[in-house]
Amino acid sequence: MPLSSKLLAKIIDGSAVASFVLNQDHVVTHWNTAMENLCGIRREQMVGKEGCSEVFYGYKRPTMADLIVSRSSPEEIEKHYQDKYRTSPLIEGAYEAEDYFPELNNTGKWLHFTASPLIDDNGEMIGAIETLLDITERKELENDLRYFLQQTTRAHEEERKFIARELHDDIAQIMGSLSRKLDNTLRQNQSLESAIIEDLNDVQLHLNDGLKSVQRFIKNLRPSLLDDLGLVPALRSLTNSLEETDGIITEFTATGEQKRLDGELELSLFRIVQEALNNVKKHAQASEVRVSAEFHGDGIQLNVIDNGRGFNLPKSMDSLPRSGMLGLMGIRERVWLLKGLLEIDTGPGKGTALMVTVPVK
Ligand SMILES: Nc1ncnc2c1ncn2[C@@H]1O[C@H](COP(=O)(O)OP(=O)(O)OP(=O)(O)O)[C@@H](O)[C@H]1O
Ligand SMILES: [Mg+2]
Repeated sequence: MPLSSKLLAKIIDGSAVASFVLNQDHVVTHWNTAMENLCGIRREQMVGKEGCSEVFYGYKRPTMADLIVSRSSPEEIEKHYQDKYRTSPLIEGAYEAEDYFPELNNTGKWLHFTASPLIDDNGEMIGAIETLLDITERKELENDLRYFLQQTTRAHEEERKFIARELHDDIAQIMGSLSRKLDNTLRQNQSLESAIIEDLNDVQLHLNDGLKSVQRFIKNLRPSLLDDLGLVPALRSLTNSLEETDGIITEFTATGEQKRLDGELELSLFRIVQEALNNVKKHAQASEVRVSAEFHGDGIQLNVIDNGRGFNLPKSMDSLPRSGMLGLMGIRERVWLLKGLLEIDTGPGKGTALMVTVPVK
């Protein structure tokens, strides 16, 4: 009877990690001191009871340890833990998850918990052990950071909007009216010396080039297409502009049911593709780039795939800032803010594929 052995009880009790054990009948056999502290419930109240879900959820339902004891299928586990769980990378047959428990110990806590099967010498499962870590402090810091990042991103976009408006209403207007004035002057003074006419034509050419640059700049600062028509037309125009300005063959596709998204979300997704395409222009030496937007019921996936020279990505995305890869870090931050997933598949000589998936309500 390994589960009732005094030694096992001592090992579990001596652990600073909150842990409890269920036997094959889902009865609590161990509830250590760290568990008492975490939940505010003494072991005498728990040991011998069938199940302990009420401590966490306030009602009867399977805990992760119960699901293991019941040999539940992944579908069954998903039903109870949705996208909050994964199979443990360390322990065979174990699962781990993170969740918020609003009622726990009268305060509400974020927990990271891992449940593993307990197997005897004959390979039979005799119960499950669940260990729980209080990650409330980390989660709160994460939320503060998310809030801070969101505010700075907003302020950044507001600033861009302001600069775009000033440039449009002021400098672009002045340049436009100067160009029209020059046009009139040239038309009305055809008797001017040819050298002067040539000079004025030259000035006008430069002025028009400058105006085009300013307009391109304004478009990059705040793409009006995005506000007026939405993400797909804005991304199509952004992608096609690479063909016009840089001679890279482009292809843009949008699949699924396209719909307008929240303005801030559309802008963030646009900025991600904008930075990815800037990188293609600046670094990839690619002859082709394909951009696609895939609308799924519960999310959207954006892909930017070039056939350029690729690059060495740091092993961990955490070291992007240390590697001076601030553009990619900006993409990663935006994806993090949107609670999405970023994947970059690249390597010297193999092109670069940047894929972003974000949930959409
Ligand atoms: N599509 C790509 N093809 C080839 N190399 C790339 C590509 N995207 C990024 N890189 C490489 O990764 C590096 C980091 O990119 P990142 O966008 O973070 O910074 P940057 O483009 O150099 O500067 P910034 O974006 O701040 O102007 C680039 O310097 C380049 O070497
Ligand atoms: Mg860049």
